[in-house]
Amino acid sequence: MKRNIITLPGDGIGRTVLDETIRVLDKAGFEAEYIEGDIGWEFWKSEGNPLPDRTIELLEKHKIGLFGAITSKPKDEATAELDPSLKDKGYIYSSPIVGLRQHFNLDVCIRPCHTYKGNPLNFIRRGKGEAIEEPLVDVVIFRQNTEGLYGGVEWTNPPDQVYEALATHPRFIKNFKHVPKEELSVSTRIFTKKATERILRAAFGYAEKYGYKNVTVCEKPNVIRETSGMMYKLAQEIQRTDYPGIELWNTNIDAQMMWLTKNPEIYGVIVAGNMFGDIVSDGFAGLIGGLGFACSANLGEDVAVFEPTHGSAPKYADFETSIVNPIAMIESACMMLDHIGEYDIAKKIRKSVSTVIEEGKVKTYDMMKMAGKPDVTDNGAASTSQMADAIIANL
Ligand code: NAI
Ligand code: MG
Repeated sequence: MKRNIITLPGDGIGRTVLDETIRVLDKAGFEAEYIEGDIGWEFWKSEGNPLPDRTIELLEKHKIGLFGAITSKPKDEATAELDPSLKDKGYIYSSPIVGLRQHFNLDVCIRPCHTYKGNPLNFIRRGKGEAIEEPLVDVVIFRQNTEGLYGGVEWTNPPDQVYEALATHPRFIKNFKHVPKEELSVSTRIFTKKATERILRAAFGYAEKYGYKNVTVCEKPNVIRETSGMMYKLAQEIQRTDYPGIELWNTNIDAQMMWLTKNPEIYGVIVAGNMFGDIVSDGFAGLIGGLGFACSANLGEDVAVFEPTHGSAPKYADFETSIVNPIAMIESACMMLDHIGEYDIAKKIRKSVSTVIEEGKVKTYDMMKMAGKPDVTDNGAASTSQMADAIIANL
C-alpha cells in the first residue's frame, strides 16, 4: 500500500532540498503518494496566512509531513509585503512552522547529531602532546518543543493582575518592586508535568531502543529550581522505575556548552527544555558539519513533521544551479522512514550518504569551506542535485 506523505516545500531552498530528497526516496524504493501542502511566504502575501487551513486539514488527514523551510520576517516588514487588498485588515504574521508545532502539539523534537567519517567539517581537537583527535560524536537531542521560554506567554508593561501576582513573590518584592511597571518585560518559562514527562519518556525510550547507555538532562536545576528542577526530578523517577539499565546524567547548559568541545563523544541521549534544547542541539550540530547536516523530527501524539533545521537561505535561493547541501533534508526524511517503520529503506539511504561523504569525491560548497557563490560548482563543488545523484548512485 502506498503511503500518503504531505510535502511542505515552503520557501527558498526548502523546495530544492525537498525535491532532491523525494528523488532519493523514490530511487531507494520508498513507495508514496506525495500531496503538496501550501505553506510559507507566498501564502502570507496572497492570503494573509502562511499556514492556510487546507494545509492543516491535509496534515490532520494524512498525519505525516515532510517540511522544507520557510522565510520569516519581522512583523512590520511582513505587513508591508501583504497584497494591497489585504492591507489594514488586521492580518498579523506569525511563523507557520511554529504554528504547525503548536496546532498539532508536536511537543517532542528529536535532533540527532552524529559524525560522518571523512566529513571535512568534522570537529577536531588537540589531544596529548601534538596529537590531533577527531572525536566520534553520536548524540541525539530531545528538545521539548512547545513550552518553556518559547511558550509565548510574555508581556512588556504587564497588565495589573499579572503585576499583582508577581508582586506576591518575595524575590520580586526584593529585586523588582522599585522598577516602574512600564519598564518591566516579563517572559515566562512554563513547564507542565505532562509535557515534561512525555519528552523524558521519549528520550529514555529512544535510548533503550537504540542502545544508548546514558541520558543527560541538560538544564540548570540548581538555579532554575522549579522548571529545570521538575524535569530532573521526574527524570530520576522515570529512570529508577523504568530504565534502571540506563545511566542518568545531569549537566548545566552553560557547562555543557563548554564541555562540548572537550568530550562530546561521551554523551548519548540529551534531553532539555525548549530553549536549552535549541542551544545544545545547535552546539552539537556545529561539531558534525553544521546546517547542511542537521536534521530533525517534530512528533506529536498523532501527527509528525520532519524537517532540516536550516532555514530558507534566501541568499542562495535564486541561483540558477542550486548549491546547498541536501543531506540535512535527506536525513530528516530517513527519520520519517524510521517513524513509519520503513527501517530498511532508511538504513539503505543512510549508508549511501555515509559512503558518499567518506569517499569524499562529491562535496557541496559547505564541505569544501567555500563561500556560497554561484560559481562554486565551476570550482569543484557539487550542486544540490549532483550530491543527490551521488547518493542515488550508491544506494
Ligand atoms: P538559514 O538556515 O536559512 O541560512 C543560514 C546560512 O546557513 C546560509 O546562508 C548558508 O550559509 C547556510 N545554510 C543553510 N542551509 C544550508 C544547506 N542546506 N547547505 C549549506 N549551507 C546551508 O538561516 P537564516 O539566513 O538566518 O534565515 C533565512 C530565512 O529562513 C529567514 O527568513 C528565517 O526566518 C528562516 N528560517 C526558517 C527556519 C525553518 O523553516 N525552520 C529555520 C531557520 C530560519
Ligand atoms: Mg535553532
